[in-house]
Amino acid sequence: MSRVNKYLIIGSASQILGIKLAKELEIAYIDTEFKTFPDGEKYIRINLEDETILKDKEVIVIQSTGPSIRNDQNAQLFELLMIVNAIKRIGAARIIVIVPYLAYARQDKIFRPGETDFIRTLLKIINSMEIDEFYVVDIHEPNVLKEMTCKVVNIDSMKLLAEYIKSLGTNDIVVVSPDKGAVERSKAFAKYFGENIPIDVFEKHRDVKTGEIIMSGSLSLRNKDVVISDDIIATGGTMATAISIAKQSGAKKVYAATTHALLLKDAKYRILKAGADEIIGTDSIDNEVSKVSLAKAIADYLR
Ligand code: R5P
Repeated sequence: MSRVNKYLIIGSASQILGIKLAKELEIAYIDTEFKTFPDGEKYIRINLEDETILKDKEVIVIQSTGPSIRNDQNAQLFELLMIVNAIKRIGAARIIVIVPYLAYARQDKIFRPGETDFIRTLLKIINSMEIDEFYVVDIHEPNVLKEMTCKVVNIDSMKLLAEYIKSLGTNDIVVVSPDKGAVERSKAFAKYFGENIPIDVFEKHRDVKTGEIIMSGSLSLRNKDVVISDDIIATGGTMATAISIAKQSGAKKVYAATTHALLLKDAKYRILKAGADEIIGTDSIDNEVSKVSLAKAIADYLR
């Protein structure tokens, strides 16, 4: 049982990572019951008999909000808000919310008239629940976190991903950024492989109406081990296109590394077909490519 006056509530989208985190922190964890009423409304219940155990305690909630085998991201978000609501009502002394993958983070800018930068509103809603600390991992655009007034931490998973890739016995590495937006992240990523690791940048243009990607790059990657890193793999279009160019440019091995491997539809197939040797993701999304656990990194921040 708990060594300290802390509990971890594990939401349905972060069950495996949640258990690992509880072990790292050596604290007790409680899971949730989550269902949908016949009219479509969501229901959650923190799975405890005596709710006063949470009163005046520090309560940590972990719940990713990506699509999963259990629910879609809207349902995961509602579950998160409802868990926080329950903890607040019970009277926790401090509430710490960890959302490894935050849905809607890519809706941070307006591309076409009439669109919404909904991530800012979503963060304001979470902030309005009077939580004390809020943690995300490699959020798509860190600037949006300025909407929050509580303590906010954007955890960097790049070091963990690089350590995993190095453990595969890679040689002569080049880090490739699949678009200009990912350059800073790729530069930071490259440093984890050593000093003076080269970085190449591809030019990506996505049609805002059709989503079609056009990418170009004329690089010499002959006999290199190429690591292509992106914050999110969704449909796999960006990654598969970048891999094809890397292969055409002579890459020996290609590793597709991402923090959030949503792997929608046939994304995994597209990426492997394009020539990737391996897809490496974290457990922000619990699936078959979650090879790198965020548990220790998150625990280090919470300790
Ligand atoms: C976009 O700016 C992101 O960083 C990713 O490149 C994008 O979300 C990947 O989406 P997809 O896998 O659908 O190409």
